[in-house]
Amino acid sequence: MPQTHHHPDVERILLDEQQIREKVTELGEQIAADYADEPPILVGVLKGAVMVMADLARSIPLDVEMDWMAVSSYGSGTKSSGVVRILKDLSADIDGRRVLIVEDIIDSGLTLKWLLSNLRSRGPKSVEICTLLRKPEAARVEIDVKYVGFDIPNEFVIGYGLDFSEAYRNLPYVGVLKRSVYED
Ligand code: XMP
Ligand code: MG
Repeated sequence: MPQTHHHPDVERILLDEQQIREKVTELGEQIAADYADEPPILVGVLKGAVMVMADLARSIPLDVEMDWMAVSSYGSGTKSSGVVRILKDLSADIDGRRVLIVEDIIDSGLTLKWLLSNLRSRGPKSVEICTLLRKPEAARVEIDVKYVGFDIPNEFVIGYGLDFSEAYRNLPYVGVLKRSVYED
């Protein structure tokens, strides 16, 4: 079902609702098969992963737990630096657990690299990553991402949890933001 109208700040729709739904369902089935013996605790990274977490969790027919972390990466504007501060930590103890990190997007991968080593230091049985989107830069960091929804071009995208200055998170699709919105 092609979208015929969209937000005026959106240059074009990259992934419509149906494409996202089909992919998330597919990821959920894969995860369910891989974790059938011992369901994971899903760790969503706030706020961007809210939508993918909600949809992914509902497409995994196992008794998964959902927990959340909020981190802030110090950096200039749109680039992250890899220096990370925890704004909200997990409620759960992940010692001995199977952890699946749920992310909206991996760009430089620096935030994720920090998060991985932080979570690994807590003694989990395993830590894997599921991301809806991955940008080309991410290929340059040595992080093994087990589940990837879509590899996307190096453009600034918004919607389905992703924001620009906290706006557009509630759009049901992933779109490319018009350059005129962030350039003058
Ligand atoms: P890394 O450390 O992988 O950081 O560079 C990824 C984080 O950067 C943000 N990011 C984006 N946010 N549209 C967004 O709304 C984008 O195109 C985009 N690229 C990177 C995002 O917060 C992600 O968690
Ligand atoms: Mg953001």
